[in-house]
Amino acid sequence: MTNEPIHLSGGAGTEPARDSTGFTIWFTGMSGSGKSTVTAILERDLRARGLKVEVLDGDVVRTHLTQGLGFSREDRDTNIRRIGWVCELLSRNDVIAIAAVISPYRATRDEVRQRIGRFVEVYMEADVDVLAKRDVKGLYRKAAAGEIPHFTGVSDAYEPPLQPDVTCFSDGRETPARSAARVLARLEELGYISAE
Ligand code: ADX
Repeated sequence: MTNEPIHLSGGAGTEPARDSTGFTIWFTGMSGSGKSTVTAILERDLRARGLKVEVLDGDVVRTHLTQGLGFSREDRDTNIRRIGWVCELLSRNDVIAIAAVISPYRATRDEVRQRIGRFVEVYMEADVDVLAKRDVKGLYRKAAAGEIPHFTGVSDAYEPPLQPDVTCFSDGRETPARSAARVLARLEELGYISAE
């Protein structure tokens, strides 16, 4: 038995860099833009190729890892940084981490991108009027009635990415299946996964 001392690391980013097949796919877009739907298809398709995948979905993560956080800029940034930190740990251990979070602030997304390195940004583009009309969760109606303060796209900012790796047209111009297929194709093109 070896008696090697255990060195406690200070957290993500302090380990020596090494090759990993993992990376992060970061979905950004307003509520109801289809992040979770496209993510679920992508997760299934990547697993079908024998790849390890973990999904961090805002609605789910906010019930444990980031429970208690609200929707002020500060709280959203904390939410994004925590999710980014987990994505970083997964990405450096050969896992494909998929984050599906509004992440409305460009600077915070860019910060997470820089930390992780192997990072693919997917923008779910949709006009807020289309989302409000669709209103899957009934939140846009509530936001318009003033019942939800700081609602992204209605009474709070959303800063679209300037150079996303993929833009999905989630306002009816393409199906979720088509969006997922285009993300997969882009991952192949970028060399993150091999072509089938
Ligand atoms: S983020 O801004 O911190 O990235 P996140 O993706 O985790 O947001 O959570 C967004 C989800 O929280 C929405 O899909 C919606 O269901 C819910 N939500 C509740 N309040 C708000 C709000 N003020 N703005 C946006 N989404 C909200």
